[in-house]
Amino acid sequence: MSLPFLAKRTFSTSIPNLYKVTVLGACGGIGQPLSLLLKLNNKVTDLRLYDIKNAKGVATDLSHIPTASKVNGYSADENSGLANSLDSTDLIVIPAGIPRKPGMTRDDLFNINAKIVHDLAVASAKHAPNAAVLVISNPINSTVPIVAKVLQKNGTYNPKKLFGVTTLDSIRASTFISEIVKTDPTNEKVNIIGGHSGITIIPVLSQTSYYNRLSDDEKTNLINRIQFGGDEVVKAKNGAGSATLSMAYAGSRFANAVLDGFEGKQNVVEASFVDSPLFKDEGIDFFATNVTLGTDGIEKIHDFGELQPEEISLLENCKETLKKNIKKGYEFVESN
Ligand code: NAD
Ligand code: LMR
Repeated sequence: MSLPFLAKRTFSTSIPNLYKVTVLGACGGIGQPLSLLLKLNNKVTDLRLYDIKNAKGVATDLSHIPTASKVNGYSADENSGLANSLDSTDLIVIPAGIPRKPGMTRDDLFNINAKIVHDLAVASAKHAPNAAVLVISNPINSTVPIVAKVLQKNGTYNPKKLFGVTTLDSIRASTFISEIVKTDPTNEKVNIIGGHSGITIIPVLSQTSYYNRLSDDEKTNLINRIQFGGDEVVKAKNGAGSATLSMAYAGSRFANAVLDGFEGKQNVVEASFVDSPLFKDEGIDFFATNVTLGTDGIEKIHDFGELQPEEISLLENCKETLKKNIKKGYEFVESN
């Protein structure tokens, strides 16, 4: 037996980790580029795309890319399309729902998106009770509590596996701070806590090494730009939707981090809006901070650390809004 053959056999006996990933709302502005990035992720071997329109077309298109995963489309009008897209999947990403137009708040999306997310959560509870669920659909301060309540009602809620994707706030913060301090944005990290809408997004600038270098005006403007980065895109798109490409990147990065955790990689830390003990005694069941991801989902929820007085006051305002947003999500499930 030749040495090259032996070497080949040695490598081929390693067991690859195989993950099934389902994207619900896969054919929209976020869904398509997100699905593309997931098709390029070698941890994903079975990619399922579900949408109420065009899922077969997008899946067929992606299926021609030579990566080691199969990709299938499932449409709402086919028999059991949603159920089949979810069957025994490991990770569900939900970008289904309408985006903002100029002048709207994320909360204005609630009336339509709450029902969409509710119904997708019901299906997820039934057909993929063990999957991690990553919610992108806005307003995530309310849609994440909706998913939690639905899963609870169905007896499948695992708080370690439910995530509101706030990675877009983190990547914006890296970009915007690097523009001011003239560094490589890929090396910048700003801790973001709270929720995902306007004043509920709190960038903790005091925990960066630049805090003392920034003027008060620079700090105020930077915080405002991170909090309202979504509006910047909505305004620039002028009626054609909200962030899609940067969100697809953010969603793909977060999904990859969850899969890294599943695989047992150490020290995988990302911020996310999760079921958190931090303010439960104040009636706030969900809060975004850094979390460490592990083989069963969330391994550790990090405290937000020390805050400066102005950040404490941002936190107080955030909590007031967050509490209402979460309650609104819960009430929707109770009344449906
Ligand atoms: P889009 O309209 O381009 O796409 C939404 C997709 O969802 C469409 O393909 C539509 O057919 C599909 N859809 C609608 N109802 C569905 C259902 N019941 N089942 C399956 N699919 C369904 O919108 P978009 O720009 O991709 O944005 C999607 C959502 O993501 C919006 O709510 C937006 O506000 C939100 N968003 C969140 C973040 C974040 O940081 N979490 C960032 C950007 C956008
Ligand atoms: C964002 O932050 O870009 C998203 O939440 C979309 C939006 O409505 O701003």
